[in-house]
Amino acid sequence: MHDALRQARDEALARIGRASTLEELEQARVACLGRSGALKCLMQRLAGLPPEERRAAGQLANEAKAAIEDALAARRGVLGSARTQAARPALDITVPGRCRAIGHEHPLRQAEAELREVFARLGFEAVEGPEVELEYYNFEALNIPAEHPSHDSFDTFYVEGDMLLRSHTSPVQIRVMEQRRPPIRVVVPGRVFRPDTPDATHSPVFHQIEGLVIGEDVTFADLKGVLAMAMRELFGPQTETRFRPSFFPFTEPSAEVDVCCDIGGERRWLELLGAGMVHPKVLEAVGYDAERYTGFAFGMGIDRVALLKYGIPDIRLLLENDLRFLEQF
Ligand code: PHE
Repeated sequence: MHDALRQARDEALARIGRASTLEELEQARVACLGRSGALKCLMQRLAGLPPEERRAAGQLANEAKAAIEDALAARRGVLGSARTQAARPALDITVPGRCRAIGHEHPLRQAEAELREVFARLGFEAVEGPEVELEYYNFEALNIPAEHPSHDSFDTFYVEGDMLLRSHTSPVQIRVMEQRRPPIRVVVPGRVFRPDTPDATHSPVFHQIEGLVIGEDVTFADLKGVLAMAMRELFGPQTETRFRPSFFPFTEPSAEVDVCCDIGGERRWLELLGAGMVHPKVLEAVGYDAERYTGFAFGMGIDRVALLKYGIPDIRLLLENDLRFLEQF
């Protein structure tokens, strides 16, 4: 009896495995489990067995039935999904593909990347500093006195206590000098914040790239040379630079630098950056020997550069995230 049950089970499983369509599978099911199927017939004979044999044979019969049902379900799954695939139309490789919209760099990032590259070719390493800054780095260490108007909360976004959103990238000059010894030659691109009312040329958030060079025998001539070269690289070989005397507490002497270049076929002068020789008090604040080392620094508006390079009339366009505008770059 046991052998007969096992044989019926194995034959059923083999037949289920051979079924290659759902119809064949159904025929296999009827042949094994149907009313006159092999297993049914054997089960009917169980009743005539002595009780102790009947229990063991009954258990085997139930196990065989369960195994056959599992195999049927599994095979049905395989054949069923094959049929839905066959019912699908053939892949038409001539249908145009679905286009994925690919973004590109924001014009500000493009300008920043170009500035980084120009200064990299001049030997400057790019570093970054924190946007939330301590008063000490934003002001004191840069020789900006406590009574200076830029210290005022009307001119600065204070976060908490002596922490503020940096109003320029110059504090990173101090951070870099604290960490390194001369010679230093770095540029620092980054976001800065001032509570200006937005208009075509002002935005409470804008971007600067700071430059700092410290070494022995660094002179104002080096500053002029580097900036003149950088501006020609940036705006073309016809670009002129003009230095006007100015004042910053952290540089002496200080200058404002204008650039003359062709904008829409017209030659125009535009103020682009502040610069100067690093003030001895700033060198002393980081423990440098101001007799031995000199250096220059500059700070340039990246947004301004983007406006000039790409002929953008209003700084606000850069931050409105309007795709009709951004897609043009
Ligand atoms: N930090 C100055 C500003 O934001 C610019 C500057 C940088 C001037 C370095 C001189 C030297 O206006």
